[in-house]
Amino acid sequence: MRQTRQASFESGVLPSGIISLFLLYLLEIHLNYVTTPAPAVDIEALVARRAQGFSLEAPFYSSQEVFDLDIEAIFLNHWLFCAAEAEIPEAGDFVTIDIGSFSVIILRDDDEGIRAFHNVCRHRGSRLLKDPCGAIGNLVCPYHQWTYRTDGSLAFADSQPPTFDRGQFGLKSVNVRTVGGLIFICAAADAPADFEEVAGVIEPFLTHYDLKNTKVAHQIDLVEEGNWKLVMENNRECYHCDGAHPELVTAYFPLFGYSADDITPRLRPLFERYQTASANLERACAVLQFPRDERRELDTRVTGFQVSHLPLDGDGASFGPNGSAVCKKLLGSISEPSFGDVSIHMQPNSWFHILSDHAVVFRVFPVAPGKSVVRTTWLVHSDAVEGVDYDVESLTDVWRATNEQDRELVGGCQRGVSDPGYIPGPYSLVEDDVEAFANWYVNRLRAHLAV
Ligand code: FES
Ligand SMILES: [Fe+2]
Repeated sequence: MRQTRQASFESGVLPSGIISLFLLYLLEIHLNYVTTPAPAVDIEALVARRAQGFSLEAPFYSSQEVFDLDIEAIFLNHWLFCAAEAEIPEAGDFVTIDIGSFSVIILRDDDEGIRAFHNVCRHRGSRLLKDPCGAIGNLVCPYHQWTYRTDGSLAFADSQPPTFDRGQFGLKSVNVRTVGGLIFICAAADAPADFEEVAGVIEPFLTHYDLKNTKVAHQIDLVEEGNWKLVMENNRECYHCDGAHPELVTAYFPLFGYSADDITPRLRPLFERYQTASANLERACAVLQFPRDERRELDTRVTGFQVSHLPLDGDGASFGPNGSAVCKKLLGSISEPSFGDVSIHMQPNSWFHILSDHAVVFRVFPVAPGKSVVRTTWLVHSDAVEGVDYDVESLTDVWRATNEQDRELVGGCQRGVSDPGYIPGPYSLVEDDVEAFANWYVNRLRAHLAV
């Protein structure tokens, strides 16, 4: 026996016992690698120690646990902008949206009203609609063909006993509210009640544009390799605009955060143009009796929002060369092309630019801790004719370029905050809306967790 073992070593063949031990060792390493969970994130501690005036700690942007909480606490419990009414102009037109494991159908019913339903059949739960948008006559479940009317009531279910009460099996509805042609939903049974008050502030700004009477000229879904909060934070400041957005900055007066006392000789000509454009905008608003009560309540209420009306540079009309219009037909009752930009920011997931000749509406939905989808929709007057009143290229080029530039910045930031070398840094004087977003977000988590 001893001789055999010796012979085995000498011939380079390991004894079977050693091989087995080695294999067991490898298996253990493998199992440890596969099954050892990442250290749990103490979300309550993160929320409790959030430093005001500083960017959020890394797990807020990269951890799956925080992402799951964001879906539950933020996206399922607040009002979300989902679509413009113009996206579903006819009875039976729908869009679907996904929020975590939820799917919601937003539908124009046969009476031209807007409805929202859980995208779940009341029979055995099949998804009803799989497409992101489309048109239906009735909602027919693909599984056993239970058929629902556009008001959600069950019209048909085959092979039921005489006692079956169709009235008990309508689709489960989701809170939905339109504000001046923009559709918001809230999946919570107990939706934030202050949305009515916010809608009451925003709606008068939108009425004159008659967004219900627009059409979708173009729509783009952009996948960004970044947490949804990085996308929102990026939107909430123009600290980066000077270097990043050459197309966009020519339209605006880049004086954010400056008071009259801060104006240097270099900025003086710009400031004087801004003063003239502001005075002209005041006059145009007075003629239309357009609201002037701008509001900024980004972190002081459950439905955080901001509405402002900014003059534009150059012709002051739109995003064309030197501030010129990009669509010949003006929206609604707006008759003065140089009517600036009604800019609306809504927490948690949207922003809007409404100009005399078109509107651009943006929504963000989270996909994964490091992935989000930004949908940009360009709206023009429903009578505007492509190729005559506008062309899609000129209409969209500023925001297509700007979105691409922002996608790069957000991706770079996601990679940075995921690096072990990241530590939160201070917001500048011109990032107060980023701070307001972070405050709002952390306060909403705090309320949800009751910490
Ligand atoms: S699951 Fe929809 S009809 Fe059966
Ligand atoms: Fe940007």
